[in-house]
Amino acid sequence: MGIIYHEQEHIFKLDTPNTTYMIGLIDEERFIGHVYYGKRLRDTNLSFWKQQLMGPLPSRRNRERVSFMDAYPQEYPTHGIGDFRQSAFEVKTVSGHRAVGITYKSHQIYAGKPKLSGLPATFGNKEECTTLELLCVDQHLNLEVILSYTVFEHIDAITRNVKIRNQSKDSIMLTKALSLSFDLPDKGYEMITLHGSWARERQIERRKIGHGIQGVSSIRGESGHQEHPFIAIVSEHTTEELGEAYGVNFVYSGNFTAVAERSQFDLIRIQMGINPVEFEWELKEKEEFTTPEAVMVYSSQGIGTMTRTFHDLYRNHLIRGEYKDKKRPILINNWEATYFNFTTEKLLDIARNASKLGIEMLVMDDGWFGKRNNDDCALGDWVVNEEKLPGGLEYLVNEVNKLGMKFGIWFEPEMISPDSELYRKHPDWAIQIPGREPSQCRQQFVLDYSRKEVRDYIYQRISKILHSANIEYVKWDMNRPLCDLGSYALEAKNQGELSHRYVLGVYEVQEKLITEFPHLLLENCSGGGARFDPGMLYYSPQIWCSDDTDAVERLKIQRGTAMIYPISCIGAHVSDCPNHTVGRITPFETRGHVALAGTFGYELDVTKISKEDQEMIPKQVALYHKHNDLIRTGDYYRISSVLDDPCRDCYMIVAKDKSEALVTYVQVLARPNFQSYRIYLKGLDPDAMYSWEEMNLTQSGEAYMQAGIDITGLWGDYKSMLIHLIRVE
Ligand code: DGJ
Repeated sequence: MGIIYHEQEHIFKLDTPNTTYMIGLIDEERFIGHVYYGKRLRDTNLSFWKQQLMGPLPSRRNRERVSFMDAYPQEYPTHGIGDFRQSAFEVKTVSGHRAVGITYKSHQIYAGKPKLSGLPATFGNKEECTTLELLCVDQHLNLEVILSYTVFEHIDAITRNVKIRNQSKDSIMLTKALSLSFDLPDKGYEMITLHGSWARERQIERRKIGHGIQGVSSIRGESGHQEHPFIAIVSEHTTEELGEAYGVNFVYSGNFTAVAERSQFDLIRIQMGINPVEFEWELKEKEEFTTPEAVMVYSSQGIGTMTRTFHDLYRNHLIRGEYKDKKRPILINNWEATYFNFTTEKLLDIARNASKLGIEMLVMDDGWFGKRNNDDCALGDWVVNEEKLPGGLEYLVNEVNKLGMKFGIWFEPEMISPDSELYRKHPDWAIQIPGREPSQCRQQFVLDYSRKEVRDYIYQRISKILHSANIEYVKWDMNRPLCDLGSYALEAKNQGELSHRYVLGVYEVQEKLITEFPHLLLENCSGGGARFDPGMLYYSPQIWCSDDTDAVERLKIQRGTAMIYPISCIGAHVSDCPNHTVGRITPFETRGHVALAGTFGYELDVTKISKEDQEMIPKQVALYHKHNDLIRTGDYYRISSVLDDPCRDCYMIVAKDKSEALVTYVQVLARPNFQSYRIYLKGLDPDAMYSWEEMNLTQSGEAYMQAGIDITGLWGDYKSMLIHLIRVE
């Protein structure tokens, strides 16, 4: 049992294999305090912790309540009752007041983990998880707040979420309801975040945590290219292998806030949840609101262990469906090959050539429907354009299937073009404020997914298309953020609910899709990687990582993405050169090596590339088949980054049973008069012998890690090599 309530000391002790999280209650008032989060405490005197928690309690309690509240380490701080740091919970009552305060009432501990209705969440059975629910109340408002914590028995992860129930007769407006908050004594912590832009997603950034509030957020209606719902709090000297790392991540795909606030007393408050900007939620009598889930991972052995814990958690307890543990078909996508300029014959030409080279699926991207010959129009008109595709989808898909290939298709189901049949018929289906000209982005508006009739209509259109031919893959794209927030279907007082209702609507439609089509491989996408988050991973086992397919840029983007997300879900393709985003020319081989650390596929016109590049495709396909089981399921180690050293990048994947490993080394820039570069491998069994397949050399795991290996023989920029190590008995 991973959770025990120590009644005498009023302390809840939550244990994962290597971490402990403790929550305490102060005797009379029953304020819920944060006691400890960190390395597992196997044997600890809990009375000591109780004393520690009482530490900031002024002796004349009521007289100095504010000083107490403002210093006390809290589990779910509320607004307006004396804690002036960032709150996790705020309301507005019918009388216009905003203060709320909660105290413990009761709790339950049980095996397993409940589902979150309508929301993505990690899952686990009764043997894998234990859950604590703390029922708290605001007696003045008649509100119940249930703080839930689930510990995983075999993974160092704890998940949290909050339910708020209105037991009063009056409705109440929730104006902030975060999913996670805890206060850590500062140890000179720094924070790691992932920032970016279109084509530059998830670049790793590290900075000192100063006094006051710092953090990352989104109000774009999606998690976004720009900032990511993730913060890691690390000690100043934390490295890949050493030191403390606390990672928090949000299982949600809309507006978020992630905060680190260092207080006057040097406590660091860490928070994560739905961004209160653009959030309000009316709770009527007896109604309940459930926040999305937040995930916490602690590692005392550096950032690398934190990363591998997230990977294990998401691979085993978040990603679902037929492809969860399965190799994905190698696809070829026509976007960078043709953009909008294609016909059935052109696609079949690509497919015929691709199939001969070992590629397994053709994906038809944007431009197959309505009058969509550019990105000005037709989103919402989900009817096949038979001028481009004579014989319709059925003919095309049958022909592709005859080649022994699967077929996949692109949709952008959340959007509507002003120039579309759908918009002419239902202008009120677009998110907009009556009377105000809504801002276009890529010449499109966003559909109001808070409305059931909109969701149902779009779903029917998608379902009809999918039933019309043997379609085995869908790319679900989303190419603009939300603004001009207004819904024709919501009352004035409920307009603030639109952003969250929108996300819930997207989740509902995706759930319906994978339920009706359980064999479908769904890949989420958002103008590249603007919605690469755990929420989306619950519905699709892979997500398109970035529109930037340049191998060098991808080293940075995939590295940042793999900070949290398993390699098995990172959409990565080999594309043509000069690269369409940066104009860089990299060797075809290097593009293949880099794309192997992802789902692997192609995005080019295979009929137009050079003969040498064509000939390399079957070799890359063979590499994919040889190594993909290891890449999908193994442990990922970062070795050297182009972000730190512009000359090289290196990472490796080690099998869980340590029987083999694959190292990828990219010489980003060649250095003159420099014979070799030594890398030190990681994660091997020190006592085992490994043969380096390409060199036919054998060495111990210990020596590979301690003494390293010299990389030689790469001549020129952007050259790369794979090193495959196999344990020998
Ligand atoms: C953005 C995606 O990221 C691209 O891969 C492509 O599907 C385009 N949209 C199509 O409009």
